[in-house]
Amino acid sequence: MNNLQRLQQNLRKNSIPALLISNLGNVQWLTGFTGSFGAALVTPNSGCMLTDSRYTVQVSEQVKDLPSFAYASPTSFVDFLHKHVSELGISTLHIDESQVTVGSYNLWAKTLKGVALLPTEDPIHKLRMVKSPQEIAFVLEACQLADACLAFLLPKIKVGVTENELLLEIELFFRRNGSVISFPPIVVSGERSARPHGVPSDNPLETGDFVTFDLGCKIQGYCSDITRTFVMGKASERHKEVYAQVLKAETSCIAALKPGANGRKVDALAREILDEKGYAKYFGHGLGHGLGTLVHDSGRLSSTMDQAIEVGQIWTVEPGVYIEGFGGVRIEDDVVITETGNEILTHFPKELMEL
Ligand code: GLY
Ligand code: MN
Ligand code: MN
Repeated sequence: MNNLQRLQQNLRKNSIPALLISNLGNVQWLTGFTGSFGAALVTPNSGCMLTDSRYTVQVSEQVKDLPSFAYASPTSFVDFLHKHVSELGISTLHIDESQVTVGSYNLWAKTLKGVALLPTEDPIHKLRMVKSPQEIAFVLEACQLADACLAFLLPKIKVGVTENELLLEIELFFRRNGSVISFPPIVVSGERSARPHGVPSDNPLETGDFVTFDLGCKIQGYCSDITRTFVMGKASERHKEVYAQVLKAETSCIAALKPGANGRKVDALAREILDEKGYAKYFGHGLGHGLGTLVHDSGRLSSTMDQAIEVGQIWTVEPGVYIEGFGGVRIEDDVVITETGNEILTHFPKELMEL
């Protein structure tokens, strides 16, 4: 069953007569379209893909399962939507409540006369979490290239080199290898490594620094996301203790991720292990997230979400300890859930490296 058929089955099951999909990650998952603007209109038995004239050729090349249409000036999107809603005989249209602004809603409600607009929780969110073998293969390939990027970087990580110089190496590596970054890479060193999502700077690496790299790329639109932290020069006892505890939390949580597990409990396990050394207070973000066409795809491993773990889901596992004025460590791998547990997709070594 392809993704369109999976969605249409879900619409039938939930008595949804028509759905407008406007989240671009969902549009890509459903149709393969990768342009920067577009929406799919789907009913249980039909549908169409709508975009504008910048993508006339691209949409016809990428979208195979639905008829596609592109509008051009002076037509506006809302008029184009109205035309296709009428042609498909839609009188009740579910719209993604997390995507449509109040302004758009008001305009659509005025223009689509006789059509009931129902803001709905997006049903694709859950469907997207279970990946097909093809999707898993693309993520695996993206993970292998991210591993290769770290191996390429390793000899370049030297005292005196700046975070920005290493950032450039990462971007060039992916470009040269037929890929692109899946998110702006993070390179943070010294005290700056205590910023979980710090922006790389012109700071040069110094002896005694932790340096953290968080990077990933895309293959056929599917993302990888890996983090490794190194020490410049000899690791102190404090470096070793923080690193060992983050590594213990990461490997233990990976071991706990299997069908039937609950994401909230796995997140709690990370905090419990970090707290063996009093470090849980330095871990402020969630343990992980789904990975797919978006780097932060559907699903979260966090204290706020009862997340069922199921076969075919892909998760990042990324505990961290961030101590202001000292530095931080994060270790992140990507795993796919299998019948018997999980398979790790990223393989760059993770024992503490002194560079
Ligand atoms: N690269 C962003 C994250 O790890 O979530
Ligand atoms: Mn990451
Ligand atoms: Mn991540």
